[in-house]
Amino acid sequence: MGLGRLSDGLAPTPPMGWNSWNRFKGNVDERLVIESAEAMVASGMRDAGYRYVVVDDGWMAPQRDRDGDLVADPARFPRGIAAVADRVHALGLGFGIYTDAGTNTCMGLPASLGYEFRDARRFAEWGVDYLKVDWCHTSGMGPRTLYAKWAMAVHATRRPIVLSICEWGRARPWEWAGSIGHLWRTTWDIQPDWPSVMAILDRQADLHRFSGPDHWNDPDMLEVGNGELTIDESRAHFALWAILAAPLMAGNDLRDMPDEVRGAITAPEIIAIDQDPLGRQGRRVQSKDACEVWLRELAGGSRVVAALNRGTASREIAVTFGELGIDDRRVRVRDLWERADRSTAAGEILADTAPHSATVLRLVPY
Ligand code: GLA
Repeated sequence: MGLGRLSDGLAPTPPMGWNSWNRFKGNVDERLVIESAEAMVASGMRDAGYRYVVVDDGWMAPQRDRDGDLVADPARFPRGIAAVADRVHALGLGFGIYTDAGTNTCMGLPASLGYEFRDARRFAEWGVDYLKVDWCHTSGMGPRTLYAKWAMAVHATRRPIVLSICEWGRARPWEWAGSIGHLWRTTWDIQPDWPSVMAILDRQADLHRFSGPDHWNDPDMLEVGNGELTIDESRAHFALWAILAAPLMAGNDLRDMPDEVRGAITAPEIIAIDQDPLGRQGRRVQSKDACEVWLRELAGGSRVVAALNRGTASREIAVTFGELGIDDRRVRVRDLWERADRSTAAGEILADTAPHSATVLRLVPY
């Protein structure tokens, strides 16, 4: 466990999957997890790149067993966790689980403080491929030390497990977590409304230096298709998370998706931005009058631009090649939501952008 960044190849691009929390909170059971995994396949999400099916808080019984092991709530998971993981694996997917570094989970269920090695071993035996470790009930504990212990515990299992650090950005994890885990939350919990998505976005603007292959900033799981978000807002949220090289963990009900939501979270050209092999997180290059421009550099020299209109009236957002760091006189422009080439551009890009939406353009130098 050196001081450098992780480079174990477990998360060369940001992890993609589904997590139960945003939509279902603690109402998790075997049926929900298996049906969600099946829906991930049937909806085309697996083929679009989604991989992990993660059960968040609420799966444990209120007490450890006599040996000191965490056990699943027998009413919710009557066949235990390993049986669920087996079913998820049989669908060609990875299985993820949740615990908490403190004495209790955020829901007050038993958590892992003092049991790190035991719990990691048990998770590995169950077939866990992705582990989220939360930070409730940790008073007096230092996150850096405790998450380093988790990294050792996971490593000791010899099973490849993606480690998701969830201390909400309080101790500036971007400065230390890259040598410990594959992703770390940078903020408090997201909510399914536009002000929350925008507030979280603002907190990411200066974090692009800290992320890259196998170590990603995590601005929290997706709310696409949840709560009060309109489809334009959901699309903007999704595209901006792709610009941020964020983990794409869907948080909606996969079993019951309107076509436009399914279309948004499986949009191949947006996902390709998130999963770009260069792994360079985007940044904000313009912000004025409720309009912003975000830029991400891609492998092969092309760039993607998101023109974001946070206001309530349609706007034409202009961005110069100087702001984008483009020297080429002329670029090809492709609209990634429309999946269509636009005319070429030179010197400046103009994007007509509806309120609470983002125009997403890929610029390819000639
Ligand atoms: C915290 C985390 C959430 C979720 C809940 C579960 O709030 O930040 O993502 O895991 O706990 O209780």
